[in-house]
Formats: sequence, structure tokens, C-alpha cells
Amino acid sequence: MARTRIPLIAGNWKMNGLKADALALAQAVAAGVRQGGWKDREVLVCPPATLVMAVAEAVRGSGLLVGGEDCHAKANGAHTGDISAEMLKDAGASHVIVGHSERRSDHGETDAIVRAKAEGAWRAGLLPIVCIGETLAEREAGKTLAVLEAQLKGSVPAGSTAATLVVAYEPVWAIGTGKTPTTPEVAAAHAHIRKVLGELMADAAGVRLLYGGSVKGSNAAELLAVADVDGALVGGAALKADEFLAIAKAA
Ligand code: PGA
Repeated sequence: MARTRIPLIAGNWKMNGLKADALALAQAVAAGVRQGGWKDREVLVCPPATLVMAVAEAVRGSGLLVGGEDCHAKANGAHTGDISAEMLKDAGASHVIVGHSERRSDHGETDAIVRAKAEGAWRAGLLPIVCIGETLAEREAGKTLAVLEAQLKGSVPAGSTAATLVVAYEPVWAIGTGKTPTTPEVAAAHAHIRKVLGELMADAAGVRLLYGGSVKGSNAAELLAVADVDGALVGGAALKADEFLAIAKAA
């Protein structure tokens, strides 16, 4: 029996937020989550590492989940400037994004690195959100599904289960651009992702597949209604509480 896929609405704050504004944003989102009292969806915010602890403390008891935007694969050691999954867990995180396209492009993260980070998340007891997605050139060359398949096969750790993996499909060209794929394009990508996961694990039917890339309040309902879309990974719109809560309500 497939595990029920509880929709997950995740906000990725990226490199945005100083303490005062970030805490106000987190508290406003937490208030909306508390008011929603939702049992049928999960809402997560992923602030910059400097704010994870303060945000986690500020929203404790509200039902709003807190995650990291990235982690190192190792638990500790001589890795100046890096943050381990254990440190995020210690700060109050329950989730961590790994392999975001900005990490892949800004920091040269390969599928193997992303996979090691996901394993690091497991070691610390965090749920990794593994990001994949094609560039515009890859889409225009008709390579989208092949790229997604290769990224999944390289980035998803062996031994993944529906309880230990979330995948986010984020077309690189849709991130921060206001552009989104058509709903049939999203459906095709998500169906292919689930099919490939089926080759990699036993309970692929239960894995949550998030769509990310220019999700906002006004298009969330349409995107979240697509088959095999089990939530959203939200960047820009996650920086405004009302906009982010509108997406959560649409789930
Ligand atoms: P966006 O970013 O919602 O601003 O397009 C999404 C993401 O990068 O996760």
C-alpha cells in the first residue's frame, strides 16, 4: 500500500533575511499555520543558516516546520564555513534542501555530492529535499526527461524510502523568472520522476514530489492540482507571509 502523500509546502528563503525581518516573517507564517490547524498538509520554512535557530525558537509549538537550505555531507571536521546536518538538527531543523540548482551552479555541486549530502541528512535525522531540474537549453534540446532521470539516479541515495526522501522538481529556467512550465509539462516531468524512482526504490508511490519555480498565490492551485504534484518549493513568494500562506491554503 502506498503511503499517503501529505502535501508539503516549503519556503526557501535563500540568502535573504536579517534577524528582525526574518523573525517577523516567520512569526506571521507561524500564526497562519496555527490558525489553519491543518492536519492534511505540512508547511516548512528554510531560512539562511544564521537564522535557523532563532526561527525555530520563534515558531515552536505552532506546527510550522523549519529546515536548512543546504548541508555538508560530513558531520564535522575541517570544512571552514560549512554547516553539517547535525548542526541544523541541533538548531531546531527537521528538513534540509540539498542539490538546489543554485548550489549546483554556484558551488559546482555534482549529483554525487548531492547524494552524499542527502545521506548526511539521514545520519542527522533530517528529511532531505533533493532538488533536480533541467536548464532551458536542455529543455529546448528535448532532453528534459533524460536530465531528470540522470539527476535522480545520481542524487537519490540507495535505501531511500517514502519516509526518508522528498524530491523537488525545479526547472532552472522557471526559478525566479515568473515563467512556469505548462501543467501538461509539469505532469509529464512528475510522472517520469515517479517512474524512475520506481526503479530505485520499493515505495516510490509514496514519495512526495514538489514542484518549484515561480510558484505564487495566484498559480498555486493550478500547479498543486497536477497529478503527482505533492507540494511546492517556493522561493520569492516565501518571503511574503500572506503570499506564502495563500500557497499553503491552496494545497
Ligand atoms: P522561486 O524560487 O519561487 O523564486 O522561483 C524557487 C526555488 O528556487 O526554490
